Formats: sequence, C-alpha cells, structure tokens
Amino acid sequence: MKLWGGRFQKATDRAVDDFNSSIRFDQRMYRHDIQGSIAHADMLGKCNIITQQESELIKKTLAEILEDIENGKITFEVDAEDIHMNIEKILISRIGDVGKKLHTGRSRNDQVALDIRMYLRDEVAQIASMLVELEQTVIYLSEKHLDTIMPGYTHLQKAQPITFAHHMMAYFQMFRRDLERLKDCYSRMNIMPLGSGALAGTTYPLDRYYVAKQLGFKDITQNSLDAVSDRDFIIELASCLSILMMHLSRFCEELILWSSHEFSFVEMDDAYSTGSSIMPQKKNPDVAELIRGKTGRVYGSLITLLTMMKSLPLAYNKDMQEDKEAIFDALDTVKMCLPVFNNMIKTMKVNVKNMYTGAQGGFTNATDVADYLVKKGLPFRKAHEVVGKMVLYCIEKGKSLDTLTMEEYKACSDLFDEDVYRAISLEQCVQGRNLPGGPAKEAVLDSIEKGKKFIEKYKIDE
Ligand code: ARG
Repeated sequence: MKLWGGRFQKATDRAVDDFNSSIRFDQRMYRHDIQGSIAHADMLGKCNIITQQESELIKKTLAEILEDIENGKITFEVDAEDIHMNIEKILISRIGDVGKKLHTGRSRNDQVALDIRMYLRDEVAQIASMLVELEQTVIYLSEKHLDTIMPGYTHLQKAQPITFAHHMMAYFQMFRRDLERLKDCYSRMNIMPLGSGALAGTTYPLDRYYVAKQLGFKDITQNSLDAVSDRDFIIELASCLSILMMHLSRFCEELILWSSHEFSFVEMDDAYSTGSSIMPQKKNPDVAELIRGKTGRVYGSLITLLTMMKSLPLAYNKDMQEDKEAIFDALDTVKMCLPVFNNMIKTMKVNVKNMYTGAQGGFTNATDVADYLVKKGLPFRKAHEVVGKMVLYCIEKGKSLDTLTMEEYKACSDLFDEDVYRAISLEQCVQGRNLPGGPAKEAVLDSIEKGKKFIEKYKIDE
C-alpha cells in the first residue's frame, strides 16, 4: 500500500506509477534526505513530540539505511514514488510503528524543499572549487605570458596590440564574477524551509532554528507558503551556470579560431584533440566545440525552469517535480566541462611567435601614431585623419606604418621625428597602456596580484 493510501479504494494504474514517480532521478538526493530526516527526528525528540528512545531508534535506523544504500544493498521502488517515501518506507519496514512517527509535523512539500537546498549547496560548493582551480590555471598562463604580444580584436578585425596575459586575465574577471554569483546564489539557498509543512506550517511545537543549526543553515524561511513554493534558488543557480557556460563557450570559440591554420596562435595537446575518420591530416578541437555545444543545453535547463514556474499558483504543485532533471542536467554538464576545459588550456601550446607576427600586421599601432601626433600638439580628430591617410598610403605601397621612411613620414606631417619609430613599436604600444586594467606588464601584474588575493579569500559560505 502507498504511504498515503488511506483514502483510496483502488491501486494506482501502473502507467501512472511510472509517470508520477521521480525516484529515477531524485534518488541522488538520498544522503541529504536522510540527513534532513535525522535532524527532524532529533528535533522531534528534543521537543518531546516523540520520545527520546523513539528519536534515537529512528536516527540509528536512518544511519543504517544510509550505509546500506551506500553499499549498494538497497534497490528503490517505483511505486514508492520518490526518494522521500522510499526511505520512509524502508524505515517503517525496519522499525514498524516507530518509523511511522518520523513524518510528524512534516510534509513532503517542505521535505523536498529542504533536500534540494541541501543537495544544491554541495553541488555549488563543488562547482565553485572547480572554478577556483580554473582561475589558478588562468593565472598560471598569464604569468607565463606577460610579454607575449598578440593582436587584440574588435569585430574580429585587428585593433590594438595586447598581451596573451592580458587576454587571459579578461577571462579571469569573468570567472571571478561567476564565483561571486555562485556565492550570492548559495546565500539564498542556505535558508531552512522545514516547519512549513504542506503549506500552512504545523500545530506541533517544532524548533525550526534547532533543525537549521543541525543542518548548517544560516537562517530559516519566513513564510510557510513561500517556502514550499519557492524555486528561485534553483532558477538563480541555472542562471549562474548559464552565464558560466557562456563564458566557457566564448573562450572555446576563441580557442577554436586560434587553433585554425589561419591563426595558428595555439595548438591543443594531442590528448585534448581528435582526428578525422577520412582526412588523415586532421586534428580537431572537439573538446572546445563540445563545450560550446553543451552551453545550449544548460540554457535549455534555465528556460525549462522559468517556464515550469511561470504560472504556478501557490503553494506546491506537482509541476515542480520537473525542477530536478533540469537542474541536475545543468550541474552534470558544468561539472563535466570545467575539469576537461581546465586541463585542455593548461596543456595547450601557445605559439608566441605567431601571436607576435599577428600583432605586426593590420596596422595595430595606428592609434599610437595618432597619439604621437597629439602629443606633438595636433588635435586628436586631425591626427586620426592624417593617420587614416597614412594607412591608405601603406596599403597601396604594401608597407606597414613602422617601415615608412622619415621622408614619407614628413610628407604626411612635419610633426614627425625620428622618435616616432620607438613610440609605435609593438612593445611601446603595450607598455604605454599602463592605466589600471590596461595591458602593460605592470597593470597586468597588478590584476594578477588582486586575482590571487580574491582566490585565497574565496569561501562559498560566509
Ligand atoms: N517528488 C516530489 C517532488 O519532487 C516531492 C514532493 C511531493 N509532494 C506532493 N505533495 N506530491 O516535487
């Protein structure tokens, strides 16, 4: 019989059992469900809602069930619907009527809200630590390439020279924001809903703060109706994960471009590349492409969750069971992507020479020629026009700005002098941009220092 079978005269249709059941995917929350139940039973005993002995027996048996699950001794049943009722049923099968007291003052509605918060707390902490590792790799690459000059792009057209370190530290900032977002999301996840009952709390004198403390929650929820209806923290997490994947995907897109023969800025290690079944010469950046591709399914989870919640009346509705597969898939995807991405960039070869050559073409120092004229007294807009004409001249003659003779320079403006060559060298273009946040070595070193401090201090739960 079902745990809720009292008012029914017929068994559930087999197909409905399958359809309704979430055990297939919510069994991964077994540990959190048991921890939550142990804390609840502990509190019931402490508040004299059940006896001390009953509380002890329930807690001890739940701990044994946990061990048995972990040792693969338990198979869950589809007709016990979900992880919550599966575990309660096992408990009852072991200790009979005492087991039937566990659910006193509790509903599956506040129970599932508790379990998912606890489960997600752990997942978020795990993802955050993977991200911290990735940040360390980004810093490692930056420190190695402080002097590696490469072209910076806008519109995918060569724009101004930067360094590979500067480019890497741009991603550091994105992942830093991802870490901050996860932490913020964690803080709202870390609120204890038990005691909200089905929707209207309960008449038993539960000690909600005690349960919160046992389970490491920062606070308790403030409205029973909201507590069982709220899935904001799941949507927030899906949103954090979507933004994180968007960052990974942009990074991957650049690596794919840079791996092409036309760029040849980087080469993925053989261990992180794949070949073609027909073209013997091929070495494809499949890992980066797959991460880019998987970004879509994480966005999909976010949209699933938003759509699932958008017209639900208060309080709990069964629709909300659909939250799990969506967020679990997003979590699994991110947890698969992060380590493989981390190792891929850690092991890739950076072609310093090709990056430099790339920065030499495309008139990346044109702004610096204009700035040179400004420093000699010409208004910027005029200098821009002069240099624009010079670029046109260079294109016609097949020259670059730094290979023009002094005569050619003078013909464009008499403000030019021998010192122009030094002023527009790629090294000077980079070093001259030494404002905080700029590509000059000192500025990048400073951002690396700040980044290291951030990583050292980062903790998900404070
Ligand atoms: N398996 C359900 C879920 O994941 C648990 C809560 C069910 N509550 C209920 N009254 N049907 O949402």
